[in-house]
Amino acid sequence: MKSTTRDNFSSKFGVIAAAAGSAVGLGNIWKFPYEAGQNGGGAFLVLYFFFIITIGLPIMISEFVIGRKTNANAVRAFKKITPDKPWYLTGIMGVAASFMILSFYGVVAGWTLEYVYLAITNAFKGQDPAALSEGFNNFISDPVRPLVWQVLFMVLTAIVVIGGIKNGIEKLTKILMPVLLLIIIVMGVRSVTLGANINAAGEVVGHSFDGLKFLFKPDFSKVDIDVVLDALGQAFFSLSLGMGTIITYGSYIRKNNNLNKTAVEVAFLDTLIAVLAGVAIFPAVFYFNVAPTEGPGLVFTVLPGIFQKMIGGYIWTLAFFILLTVAALTSSISLLEVGVAYFAEELKINRVKATIVVTAIITVLGIACSLSNNILKDVKLFGRNIFDNMEFLSSNVMLPLGGMLIAIFAGWYINKTDLYNELSNGNVLKLRFFKMFYFIIRFIAPVAIAIVFLYSVGLLGE
Ligand code: PFF
Repeated sequence: MKSTTRDNFSSKFGVIAAAAGSAVGLGNIWKFPYEAGQNGGGAFLVLYFFFIITIGLPIMISEFVIGRKTNANAVRAFKKITPDKPWYLTGIMGVAASFMILSFYGVVAGWTLEYVYLAITNAFKGQDPAALSEGFNNFISDPVRPLVWQVLFMVLTAIVVIGGIKNGIEKLTKILMPVLLLIIIVMGVRSVTLGANINAAGEVVGHSFDGLKFLFKPDFSKVDIDVVLDALGQAFFSLSLGMGTIITYGSYIRKNNNLNKTAVEVAFLDTLIAVLAGVAIFPAVFYFNVAPTEGPGLVFTVLPGIFQKMIGGYIWTLAFFILLTVAALTSSISLLEVGVAYFAEELKINRVKATIVVTAIITVLGIACSLSNNILKDVKLFGRNIFDNMEFLSSNVMLPLGGMLIAIFAGWYINKTDLYNELSNGNVLKLRFFKMFYFIIRFIAPVAIAIVFLYSVGLLGE
């Protein structure tokens, strides 16, 4: 693809697969369970649902509209609509967020590659969760090994992005998303049916049903403003919102696509996969008596344990980690695409060069993230190491802030008729919820996000 001609998604399913491919990734299978585990389970899930429906979905629709209407990258899209206002800075912040997210995302995706390798060599065989947890910690404490995988993953991401939209992104997601869904469902069934874990002395040490209770029975006494901010950040992160990814993908969508429907389908699929990942993980967490608050290592410790309880465990483990890597890849290419589209189109360099430059910068940032689990672990800012800062600042600060600005932009700076026309494909589609949508992006979403922010920095409340 040259910087002057823009590619398009070729089919409706291709659009959904690519946008869902961006949304579904480590955010659903790695981040959601550990965030839910640290934030009390059910109550976190309720807040997460709430934010997806009331804020995430309308912002996703807004991003699609901005992208398709302008047919431009995340920065130029703002410039085209408001040429003499500084709104393009929202796009620039998005590009910066994409760099930050991909830096730590590439590290975790590198971990999944290591787990593919471990699955091939049958290294989990006979290991209990304590041994699995120790194995995970030893692995990330090693300064070199995770780096090798991270760099390899970033190279893979760059290769797909160089392949362009139709050949690279669309083909990959179309085939593999449905298979991933299927595997997670099978894992969920196995996890829930683990039942009671009885030790040699005949005592019950854990029960899988407690995991379902943890996930689906909200205990609101655990909710404080940090939990609310985490749920908001997770909603944005998981739906790939607030930083121009969906604007960029929207710019590749054809004029006859029903953007509302696409957004609803993507948000539904994304949420479904996060919940199914929770159903696969928490029953096993309680069965094995692992702490749900274990943090970023949670899925790496628990999932290989489930597979050992399955017939054909070797194949399931391998298939799962390969697909998790692919899910990470379809998200990482969308993250990289934001920077590449911007650099290629604004700096007028060709896509291949832009991809190489952007990948190199992000890989270097990622190396710092990876090393913060070992030799740089004492380098801290605001009490967090480099990895945690990248994660916190990007998902809990920049994405909600970007989302708030995008909502305000779509609600107040795009002419209402233009907005309606773009969303209804020139008055062809009936828009039953337009009034509500318009009200949310003008008032509810910006105010709600502002309130969460003000509370979390202590400017509201006690
Ligand atoms: N939504 C992806 C996930 O859940 O893994 C991560 C992500 C991709 C976040 C693209 C933001 C983004 F723009």
